[in-house]
This record gives sequence, C-alpha cells and structure tokens, in this order.
Amino acid sequence: MLGHGRNVGIVGVGSALPEKIITNRDLEKMVDTTTEWIVTRTGIRERHIAGPETATSDLALSAGRQALRRAGVKANEVDLIIIATATPDMAFPSTACIVQAALGAESAAAFDLEAACSGFLYGLAIAEQFISSGIYDTALVIGAETLSKITNWSDRNTCVLFGDGAGACVLRPVSKGKGILSHYLGADGKGGELLQIRGGGSRRPTSVDTLQGGLHYIEMLGSEVYKFAVRIMGEAALEAIQRSHLSQRDIDFLIPHQANHRIIKAVAKRLELPPEQVVVNVDRCGNMSAASIPVALEEAVVGGRVKDGHILVLVAFGAGLTWGATVIRWGT
Ligand code: UT7
Repeated sequence: MLGHGRNVGIVGVGSALPEKIITNRDLEKMVDTTTEWIVTRTGIRERHIAGPETATSDLALSAGRQALRRAGVKANEVDLIIIATATPDMAFPSTACIVQAALGAESAAAFDLEAACSGFLYGLAIAEQFISSGIYDTALVIGAETLSKITNWSDRNTCVLFGDGAGACVLRPVSKGKGILSHYLGADGKGGELLQIRGGGSRRPTSVDTLQGGLHYIEMLGSEVYKFAVRIMGEAALEAIQRSHLSQRDIDFLIPHQANHRIIKAVAKRLELPPEQVVVNVDRCGNMSAASIPVALEEAVVGGRVKDGHILVLVAFGAGLTWGATVIRWGT
C-alpha cells in the first residue's frame, strides 16, 4: 500500500477461454429451464466450457504465458506464482507447481490459493506484500477454473450459472502513486454451508456413497448467496475506496466478480456508477469464480477502455464465505 514500501502494479494481463460455448438454448435441452429465465434472472447468455482433455492448469498456462509476453517478462524472471482456484487439477501437486514447470519458471515459488470467487483478489494482496516489502520483484497471479468439472449438469439451480476460463496478471514495482492503492479482504465462515462441495475431502472422502449422493458437485442456496453478495460487494468496495483515501467520485471503472448481472447492477447503484463505468462479461462467460475478475480486467485493458491513470475498483464475494476489494491506479 502507499507509504508502506514499494508501489506494486499490474504490468501485463492475459486470459484464456475454452473454445467450446454452451448457450442457454443448449441448456434448455439438458434441464427444465428457459432462455428467458436464465437471461432475466442472471444476465447470462452463454458460457465457455472446457473439453474432457482440458484441465485448469492448461487454461492457467495459456493466460500466464500471454500475460508474461505482454509484460515483456521472461519465465525465469518470475519469483512467485499464485494460482487462485477451487478446481485444481488434483489435490496435489498444486496447479501452480504444474504451471511453474510448464512455463520453465525455475526461480519461482509456487502455490495454490483457495478463497473461491474472491481468490484472485486474495492472490493480488499476497503477491503485493512480497513485492512491496522487497522480498520478490516479479509475481504471476492467475485466477483459473474449470467449474464445469464440478457442476451437476442435471441441477438447474446451478448448471446454468457457471463457466470455465483463466485470467492472469504480472505484478512488479511501479512508480509512486501508481498500482495497488488498497485492499480489503474478509471472511465469514459461519456462512460456509450456503455454497459448498461436501464430498471428496477429509470430512467425507470419496466413496461410492459420496458419488451416489452427488456430494462431489457444487451445492448452493442461491437466494441466500444473492442477498449476501449484494450487501458485501457494496460494503467491501466502499471500505477499499476509503482505505485508498479516494472517494466514489474518483472511480473510473468497477470490475466486479461476474456472478449475476442483477448483483452487478445493485453494486453499481450503491456506488452511484453508470453502466458504462462497469465492466461486464457475465453475459458471455457466466460465473468463472476466481477467473472472472482477471478475465474481465484483461478484456477492459486490451479493449482500450482502461487507460493510464484510471482508478479501478475490483470487488468479489464467494464461498467461504469470503470477500475482497482492491483499488488500483492503472499504469506503471
Ligand atoms: O460466485 C458465487 C456463486 N453463486 C452465486 O453467485 C449465486 C447468487 N445467486 C443468484 O445469482 C440467484 O439467487 C440465482 C440466479 C441462483 C437464482 O435466482 P433467484 O431470483 O434468487 O431465484 P430463486 O432461487 O428464488 O428461485 C426462483 C424459482 C424457483 O422456483 P419456485 O420454487 O419459486 O417454484 C426455482 O426452482 O426459480 C426456479 N429455478 C429455475 N427455473 C428455471 C431455479 N433455477 C432455475 C432454472 N430455470 N435454471
């Protein structure tokens, strides 16, 4: 943060989306739903879905490579790789270690981070501490998910919502006044049961019973998560703005977690931001959990919307329950 060491900013962005697209019309053939219901309740029209051969690390690697190339940073210059994901390739080794090897980032420490949809902002905050303090110079933070692999495709409450993808950022020291200005992270474990996968861990190891009971799939109390999201996204964004010593009027773009267009509109209203100052891709990508913010950021940067000096507010909520917000002055 400002005044607490080196300023740290994003010097390169990348993203990767699987080629295959599933539309709402496709879902109408799979579960009892309608395009009209999905669009009016969520704003989602289509989502990218990974094929059987594609794992989370494949998407993370593509996004990471692109971010490094755009930043002009070689793989062997990377000191730290953090991958935020709730859908790692396997329990261990970490997806970050798999990506480290594939990139040839031999000098990098690597680990996965699980804070569900808030994971990318948790990752940014951690990487920023290492660079700000001078311990590391270059970090690669990636949000990557293949949620399609843990979705029950016969549960209409969840299967219409999610998509697959990855977004990556390269972090380095930047000039004074630029880069990450503040973070606000939080959690409320009491709400853990609202959004969970019950099976496959140490509480309920994978067994015939867990598989037959569908405990390896996402379960969600959608309307409760919705109420939490609308409240916490506004609060978290305002807290981070206050910590950056800026005001709502200074914001150029809100880049929120893309779970539901109605949630995004409610947060924008709370922050008094018009639609043109809100980055949205939920219509094309669905909810990509930890990947949703970095993919939206990449689109806004590469599309030329985000310019040097712009103030960005990134805000997320997710399972845990968790939340996070980050304020950035764009530029190096
Ligand atoms: O990243 C965090 C992950 N989770 C989220 O972000 C989810 C947050 N929650 C939401 O986005 C919304 O709560 C949903 C989109 C999941 C649901 O919208 P809602 O307006 O809260 O609807 P609801 O859960 O209150 O359900 C309304 C009705 C129910 O029918 P009854 O009981 O009223 O007859 C559902 O069974 O809609 C029904 N329904 C569907 N109908 C058609 C639920 N899913 C579907 C569907 N198609 N796909």
